[in-house]
Amino acid sequence: MNIAIFISGKGSNMENIINWVEEQKNLQQKSKIKISLVISDNPDAKGLMTARKKNIKAIFIPATPFKTKLEGESEQIYISFLKREKIDLICLAGFMRVVKSKLLKEFSRKIINIHPSLLPKYKGLNTHQRVLENKETKTGCTVHWVDETIDGGEIIVQKKVTITQEDDEKSLAKKVMQKEHLAYREALQKIICSIKKN
Ligand code: GRF
Repeated sequence: MNIAIFISGKGSNMENIINWVEEQKNLQQKSKIKISLVISDNPDAKGLMTARKKNIKAIFIPATPFKTKLEGESEQIYISFLKREKIDLICLAGFMRVVKSKLLKEFSRKIINIHPSLLPKYKGLNTHQRVLENKETKTGCTVHWVDETIDGGEIIVQKKVTITQEDDEKSLAKKVMQKEHLAYREALQKIICSIKKN
């Protein structure tokens, strides 16, 4: 299974996936899971350097002229790179753009995303801020299949986090991030198991 990871920034979820794949290799020498490509729409994404240090092909591909979506000519360039590497699964890991129909069609049910809330609640940006404003007592994260809706595809894994009175945005982000890393591993495990079964 050839995996591509899309990032826009720090890439801690990406690093977590890379480490998980390495661990699978250590557990099972025959493991066929490989991170073949990391793509960022941001040339300064810290995650690009992290991936390169781990000898993974990591490239910046501009997604101009749009600011919040991947569509048109740039989308086509992304698709060419993915096809060249024979990608079977795309992991969105802090990729700050909405993926559109062409990529979704080319990679139908092959794209997953992580979102820092218990979907379907708090789709979109600034989740921790909104969760705190609404005085929620629980939040969490979700790994889901990506479809035409924004943060609305079928849920693969969710992890809950309890919010305490002392929590602020920073502490909540930290707690949720720890769960995100667990959730991504569990989701990949689930996907691999279901492929093996079929
Ligand atoms: C994560 O909180 C993820 O849920 C959201 O963007 C953030 C990316 O963080 N989609 P990182 O780049 O993986 O550290």
